[in-house]
Amino acid sequence: MKYQKLGKTDLEASVVSFGAWGIGGGSVWPDMALGVPEVERLLDAATDLGINYIDTAPVYGTGASEELLGQALKGGRRDKFLLQTKCSLNWRNDGGNFHYQRDGYTVNNDTSARAVRQDVEDSLRRMQTDYLDLIVVHYVCGSWPVEETMSALQQLIKEGKIRAVGLSNSKPADLREYEKYGTVALVQEQYSLLAPYHGMDYFPAVRESGATFQVYGALEEGFLTAPDYVDRTFPQGDVRGKLPWIHEPIKGNIHKLFEVMEPLTKKYGCSYANLVQAWTLRQYPNLNLLTGFRRVETMQDTCRALDICLADEDVQLLSEAAKPAQVTELDK
Ligand SMILES: NC(=O)c1ccc[n+]([C@@H]2O[C@H](COP(=O)([O-])OP(=O)(O)OC[C@H]3O[C@@H](n4cnc5c(N)ncnc54)[C@H](OP(=O)(O)O)[C@@H]3O)[C@@H](O)[C@H]2O)c1
Repeated sequence: MKYQKLGKTDLEASVVSFGAWGIGGGSVWPDMALGVPEVERLLDAATDLGINYIDTAPVYGTGASEELLGQALKGGRRDKFLLQTKCSLNWRNDGGNFHYQRDGYTVNNDTSARAVRQDVEDSLRRMQTDYLDLIVVHYVCGSWPVEETMSALQQLIKEGKIRAVGLSNSKPADLREYEKYGTVALVQEQYSLLAPYHGMDYFPAVRESGATFQVYGALEEGFLTAPDYVDRTFPQGDVRGKLPWIHEPIKGNIHKLFEVMEPLTKKYGCSYANLVQAWTLRQYPNLNLLTGFRRVETMQDTCRALDICLADEDVQLLSEAAKPAQVTELDK
C-alpha cells in the first residue's frame, strides 16, 4: 500500500480508500445484501491490505452503510481507520432544499449550521464512535452562507468531534470560498476515463490550495471492469441503470475501448479495472483512489493497480480510445 497526507492535515491515508456506498444496499445497490459479518470481513481484508481509510455518507442506504460500519468497527477495529462521512443530505424533514426521493424517504440538502451539527451527531450515533476523522460536505449548496457552514465545522473540530473537512460535488470557486473560513483537506469529486472533464477543470484549483483530490467513480460503478458489464440490465432504481453507458452510441464505443484495453491487460498482466485505475492515478499527482467494494476480491485486485506503471504511450492510447465514449457532464 502507498500512503499520502490528506491536504495540509497530518492525517496519513492509504491511497486506495474504501467506498462504502454499495454496502448500504437499498434500491441503488440492490444486487448484494451485506450483513455485519460480511462488513467485518471487508474491514479485516482492508487492514491486511494496508487500507486505513473508509468513506461513507448518512444517505448511503439511508443510514444502513453507517450503521453496518458502526457494528463492524466495534471490537477493536475503529482505531485502525480514518473514518470519513458526510453532511448536508438528510431525511429528517426539518428543512433544506429537496434533493431526491428514494426508498420511501425524502432527502433534503441543508448546509445550515444547525443541520450540519445535527448530521454529525447522527453519524456519531449510527457509527458508535465519539469522533469522525473527516466530514465532507456532500453537496455544496448556495442557500446558506459558506461562512455559516464552515464556522459550524470549525467549531466541531474544536470540540474534538471531527478532525478535518472536505467538499464534494463542488467547483473550484466553492473550494476558494470555503478556504476563506478554514482548511479544506480534500475535495471528493467524480472523475473517470469516461467523464474526465470536471476533474481536469478542478486540478489547477487543488494544486493551488494543497487539498487532496479524491476521485470517486473511477470504475464507473463497475462499467469499466469488464466488457460484459456494459451489456447488463439493472432493476428499477439501480444507480447503474441511470448511467449514460447503457445507451448507444456510448455503449458501443465503450466496447471499442475494451478492445483497445484487451492487449494492454496482457502486456501488464492485470485486470481491466487495474488498467483504468493505473490510468487514473497518472492523471494528477497524489490522487486518492476512492473505490467502492462489496467483495474482498475486488479490494485485493484494486490494490494491485498501485504497482502498475503504464508507459506514457499507453496512457495516451487509453485517453484517445476513450474519447468517443466520453460525456462532458455526469450527474450521479
Ligand atoms: N460524493 C459523492 O457524491 C459520491 C458519489 C458516488 C460515490 N461516492 C463514493 O465513492 C465510492 C466509489 O464510487 P462507486 O462505488 O460509486 O463506484 P466505483 O468505485 O467506480 O465502482 C464500484 C464498483 O466497482 C467494482 N470494483 C471495484 N474494484 C474492482 C476491481 N478491481 N475489479 C472489478 N470490479 C471492481 C465494485 O465491485 P463489488 O461491489 O463487487 O466489490 C463496485 O461494484 C462510493 O462507494 C462512495 O463512497 C461519492
